Amino acid sequence: MKNDIVRCECVDMAIDGSGIAKCGDLVVFVKEMIKGEIADVRITKEKKSYSYGIIEKLIFPSPERVASDCPIAYKCGGCDFRHISYDCQLQLKKEILANILKPFKVMDIVPDEVHYYYRNKVQIPYREGKMGFYRKYSNDIVEFDDCLIESETANRIIEDLKELLKGFTQAKKIRHILIKQSHDLKEVMLGFIACEKIDLTDIVDTLIEKHPSISSVILNINNKETNVILGDEEILLYGKPYIMDEFHGIKVRISLKSFYQVNYRQMLKLYELIRELSECGEGSRVLDLYCGIGTISLFMAETAKQVTGVEIVKEAVANAKENAKMNRIDNVDFILADASKGMDTYLKDKDIVIVDPPRKGLSAELIDSLISHEIGRIVYVSCNPQTLARDLKLFENAYHIGKIHPVDMFPYTIHCECVVRLDKK
Ligand SMILES: C[S@@+](CC[C@H](N)C(=O)[O-])C[C@H]1O[C@@H](n2cnc3c(N)ncnc32)[C@H](O)[C@@H]1O
Repeated sequence: MKNDIVRCECVDMAIDGSGIAKCGDLVVFVKEMIKGEIADVRITKEKKSYSYGIIEKLIFPSPERVASDCPIAYKCGGCDFRHISYDCQLQLKKEILANILKPFKVMDIVPDEVHYYYRNKVQIPYREGKMGFYRKYSNDIVEFDDCLIESETANRIIEDLKELLKGFTQAKKIRHILIKQSHDLKEVMLGFIACEKIDLTDIVDTLIEKHPSISSVILNINNKETNVILGDEEILLYGKPYIMDEFHGIKVRISLKSFYQVNYRQMLKLYELIRELSECGEGSRVLDLYCGIGTISLFMAETAKQVTGVEIVKEAVANAKENAKMNRIDNVDFILADASKGMDTYLKDKDIVIVDPPRKGLSAELIDSLISHEIGRIVYVSCNPQTLARDLKLFENAYHIGKIHPVDMFPYTIHCECVVRLDKK
């Protein structure tokens, strides 16, 4: 019953990072409990066949339990594993992935040796004078001084911005702040997302003087009441409408609306892995679906005969085209299209297809097209193991599914990037 206290042993980890604890036949999902731990657990919610609970008293703590180094851990919705040593996080994530992706074989996770201040993009809601992250499963804003997974530069800009916005009369028109930062070229883009045009001159002048790495400031207008953060209209307030980064000797432009992998160190490893698994050779004709600003296409173009990238965001396609031109890579082309449908024309003459979809995974139509065009090799890059598992099952009759290679793109969270190669039977 609710509020009962039961002594449980945590026997497994759930996909949301909570522990799955057992007391006889009772199954309890317990926040922040680690596999192997024994605790007295207070039941907070009862369902038909399981309950939810919180740790009342730890009886046998895991040797991998560590004191959280973040003052807002578990208040904000960011990190799931601040109470677990990094090595153990990797082990537990691998087990969670293996459970979701059964019967496919999951390899050890490629670690991020640094695993602090790794995010190069931060999106912060601003409401009623408060700037911070959403509390988990809520719209409450939790303020912070130093987020341990965002970049240190972003932390300092946010600190200054909080002060500057205190005296700003139009502040309530701001909905979000977006900061992007390039790794190699150390450029920062600052985006203000507001419900209408506002005059940010003084704030921008102060910020660019204090933070010379800011090379782009954009006001984005979004007056729609949806959960899409960015609106259509963009006004350049300072510098260029993009920032520049460089990876593996390739220079890239990144616009406000364009996707860029959030963890640069891990992006390098991910791309090496994709290229290695694809066995892309001099004669290979490659289709890179969901290509963003063309990073994978440009990297593959070094070894391929021809690469075509497909992407739905027009700003990203424009970046991809400019990136090819800037790097004098001429065996690539980029197409603005919805990769979930009508890909038959592009699949016709391809030997290798890379797919890197958003969390919802691939459409049944695209999977059918890939199968019916008898594409020899597919490399599937996924940020959501549940949709990956669903999709791999649809490929299974026609393709040998290789080992799953996880890359820890998002340390301290339950999320993980996975790469898998599929070979036509
Ligand atoms: C996970 S990102 C991968 C981007 C790129 N491969 C990279 O490594 O940077 C997914 C990309 O798919 C794009 N996208 C989302 N839905 C799409 C669709 N239906 N068709 C084409 N691209 C889509 C997004 O805009 C985003 O750029």
